[in-house]
Amino acid sequence: MVRVQVPATTANLGPGLDCLGMALHLHNIVEMSVISAGLQIEIQGEGSPDLPRHEENLVYKAANTVFKQVGYEFPGLKIKLQNNIPLAKGLGSSSAAIVGGMIAANIISGNQLEQKEIINLASGMEGHPDNVAAAVLGGIVVAVQADGEIKCHRINPPKKLKVALSIPDFPLFTRVSREVLPQQVPINDVVFNLGRVALLISALYSGDISQLQIAMEDRIHQPNRTNLVPGMKKVFAAARLAGAKGISLSGSGPSIIAYSDSDLELVSRVMRDTFRQNGIIAKSLILDISPAGARAFAI
Ligand code: HSE
Repeated sequence: MVRVQVPATTANLGPGLDCLGMALHLHNIVEMSVISAGLQIEIQGEGSPDLPRHEENLVYKAANTVFKQVGYEFPGLKIKLQNNIPLAKGLGSSSAAIVGGMIAANIISGNQLEQKEIINLASGMEGHPDNVAAAVLGGIVVAVQADGEIKCHRINPPKKLKVALSIPDFPLFTRVSREVLPQQVPINDVVFNLGRVALLISALYSGDISQLQIAMEDRIHQPNRTNLVPGMKKVFAAARLAGAKGISLSGSGPSIIAYSDSDLELVSRVMRDTFRQNGIIAKSLILDISPAGARAFAI
């Protein structure tokens, strides 16, 4: 049997739409083994009542993609999932499912795929590389598509950087959150974001996060997504006032993520209270960045 632990991830980090991701210290566990016949799927935790336990299950589909790719035939498969990453909250739950399924399947079928092939396959299935690359590599990852494959660079997270997540109690599916993205962007806004991405990467790389607030500003996707998350602008403003060093929508939302190298309790409370004033119940989590990506254990 193989056990794979996969981190939650936050994508975009403000200006880096579809190319920046960061792994968080919150994990799903995927266990997989070959059995004599059939498909058995057990699910505990997040999504347990609703997630499919048949061939439409995302972990199974991802595993099957790897098995097909390497030509591995199996008589039957047992999958056990411990889901700790909330679903449809912008925390990379689908990437974790895909990456977990693919890594487990790769080990079962004799480790025929390299890490970069897993990232390519997973990214193709997910539709964008930011969450999957961070889920595989851990830390902070820049991921772009070039020559038909994903090119990544991983950066160690600044030592004391932590995040406060405010996770609204309603789901927001990435498909819906992408429908509001503009088809064209004015050159001024492109220049605005380009500068911020460069500033952000140099801040994270050097560990000097004094300009993180400016570096995390975005004019490309977040302004269009504010209507999908009631109170979003006010939560951003309140978190800044309470001392957050940087703030962004986590992936395509609805969670909002604040960053700091000092205490985040106040920021976390203020974010939750501001959501409540806007009619949204939100759960708070304070997490470390995960320097490690997905990890596999033979058991
Ligand atoms: N980069 C994607 C988006 C991430 O913002 O739509 C989704 O988690």
